[in-house]
Amino acid sequence: MAEASGNSPRRDPNGRALLGGLALSELVRSGSIRTPSYVYDLDAVAAGARELREAFGNEPHLVAYAVKANTAGPIVRTLAAQGCGADVVSGAELSVALACGVPAQSIVYNGVAKRDDEIDKALGAGILSIQIESVEEIVRVAARARALGRKERARISLRINPALDFEALETHANIATGHDAAKFGIAQDDLPRAIDIIKASPEVELVGLGHHIGSQIPSVPAYRTAARTLFSLGVAVRAGGIRTLRFLDTGGGFGIDYGAGAVPKPGDYVRAALEERKAAEVDDLMLMVEPGRSMVAAHGVLISRVVQTKVSTVRGTARRWLMIDAGMNDLIRPALYQARHRVVPLDTNGASADFTATLWRVVGPVCESSDDFGVHALPDAPPEHVALLDAGAYGYVMSNQYNGRALPDEVFLRGGQIVSISRGKSPDDWVQERVAIQG
Ligand code: LLP
Repeated sequence: MAEASGNSPRRDPNGRALLGGLALSELVRSGSIRTPSYVYDLDAVAAGARELREAFGNEPHLVAYAVKANTAGPIVRTLAAQGCGADVVSGAELSVALACGVPAQSIVYNGVAKRDDEIDKALGAGILSIQIESVEEIVRVAARARALGRKERARISLRINPALDFEALETHANIATGHDAAKFGIAQDDLPRAIDIIKASPEVELVGLGHHIGSQIPSVPAYRTAARTLFSLGVAVRAGGIRTLRFLDTGGGFGIDYGAGAVPKPGDYVRAALEERKAAEVDDLMLMVEPGRSMVAAHGVLISRVVQTKVSTVRGTARRWLMIDAGMNDLIRPALYQARHRVVPLDTNGASADFTATLWRVVGPVCESSDDFGVHALPDAPPEHVALLDAGAYGYVMSNQYNGRALPDEVFLRGGQIVSISRGKSPDDWVQERVAIQG
């Protein structure tokens, strides 16, 4: 069953799942953790970042962590301490990155509809680059730079849409971005027009070219092909007289193993991009990547209590549901993208990993059929608590209070202990907020 997989939680000899060296069932039993809670291993986040940076060898590089994947202060500070920069997509994310110690010169700002006040904030902070997603946006940034009376040119980079064959992206339609019907990035055919506008705009300078082809890309070839296209555009842009380029950004999207099988390591995508950069003879330009998921997903779990079971017999066949206190409001990925997060018992009570299992359909309390985490092999006698694995990315950040539910707690582990707990909003907070609205 799932426990046999390489990146399932380690268990102590008593069958208790461990994270950051701590037995999670013990933390729940002692009352240190309520359910549902996200629990993160900060040491593992730091180790993953170190390993990724090592893949660059001595090459100048920037790992701009896509803050959207997990915006919690301890996570962003841990990655900043490992020398990571940040990729942000709003003025608020920019504030988080700066306040968590990410140097402004290591921050890039993506997004298709940045407001004027957000552009002003990015210009004022002196970030490495505003990543431009349309020809129209160049004009807007130039206008803001003019309005602010800036002496320095505004640093911009162009996010190019490599117009990849949709199938080639091998990921879910909702998280594929590098195809030509996407709202993201500048179409390749529009690049000459973009360059002409930049040349005619003294307020801006072009410091980079980049792309992000999508998320959860499960293999290196699509990433490599897109990188090759990007680098050839870098050559063309330089040949067209642009002398200010500093970096090439091959984006994020490194896939992780959600239990279906091994995927490449983040460093493998980086090594492929480095090879292509050399082959294209643009290796004087810094290589940047923008990973989010691969830096945090595997290092966080969502812990939930089993509320009850339900067994119905329909035309002689038993249907079994395991109803837990975490729902699609806490972890929306299965409902939104048909994503599968393994559900494992927190404690096997000493049974080995291959305990006799029953197939349970694990569902949450929300009044939606899509509040369904799929069918999982769990012990015949249902466990008291379960962990939903690989929930460190796009988990808490996408949670909400639909149905008057709490926002989950977040618990941060380092050095074998809890270093902080952020309490989510309670249902009582929700009641008060809704009722207090006048009218
Ligand atoms: N750069 C840009 C411009 C992006 O839009 C994204 C993600 C990233 C980098 C980071 O991609 P990653 O390395 O995390 O794959 N909520 C979805 C994923 C949405 C990704 C949005 N953009 C999910 O839960 O699967």
